[in-house]
Amino acid sequence: MFEKFKKTNKKPVSISEEEIVKGSIPNHIAIIMDGNGRWAKKRSLPRTAGHHEGMKVVKRVTKLASRLGVKTLTVYAFSTENWKRPEDEVNYLLRLPQEFLGTFLPELIEENVRVRIMGNKEAIPAHTQKAVDKAVHDTKHNTGLVLNFALNYGGRAEILDAVNHILLDYQEGNLHKKIDEDVFDQYLMSAGLQDPDLLIRTSGEIRLSNFMLWQLAYTEFWFTDVLWPDFKEKHLLEAIHAYQKRGRRFGGV
Ligand code: FPP
Repeated sequence: MFEKFKKTNKKPVSISEEEIVKGSIPNHIAIIMDGNGRWAKKRSLPRTAGHHEGMKVVKRVTKLASRLGVKTLTVYAFSTENWKRPEDEVNYLLRLPQEFLGTFLPELIEENVRVRIMGNKEAIPAHTQKAVDKAVHDTKHNTGLVLNFALNYGGRAEILDAVNHILLDYQEGNLHKKIDEDVFDQYLMSAGLQDPDLLIRTSGEIRLSNFMLWQLAYTEFWFTDVLWPDFKEKHLLEAIHAYQKRGRRFGGV
């Protein structure tokens, strides 16, 4: 089955923005931005150089997604497992949101983008929290694209947090209804967002890496060998084009 995705990606199609907007645009695109380290290694650069280049790609992809009318763009910026990396790299990765927002926030505001965060914020450095809180605050009235950063995020941790929160609400007598999918959704860090329609993972890896495990149940997956720092606007258009050709049945016929 996964071969099918790989084969699809071997024949890149050239498709314009004008063509793409004629079809259905995914409301929510989620991206696992992988391959920064390999990109840097190929150039004999430190891994951090790959992350920095990857940050620039987030800017370009955000702008295009916003132009196309995508409602939510979720990017996996730091996972609960990324703490296992060397301290220098962890520190660098956790400083990037500050740099990204420090330079790009005025443009995000101008583009009517709303910034949102999903993940365990308490464990990230205070300077990062501050930058993120400011961006969330300064963009809270924006009505365009929601740029959702998965930062110190893990799908299993998110589900466990939700379950524990439900238990607490129940014990405190604040929960009087049966837990169905809609109720459970409200306990997740993505509460209020639609589930992703399209998941993109770069760099040829074909796995979820603990990303949005609940929310990706009916998402269309698109994998590419392109390393994240090499990801261009044309690749996003290619992914959406592939999405537009999929028949989504959500378990029906
Ligand atoms: C995986 O590549 C990527 C990450 C763990 C970090 C992703 C972060 C960015 C792209 C920066 C974006 C940040 C902001 C704030 C916009 P890898 O390092 O595992 O690559 P490798 O598999 O080639 O080693």
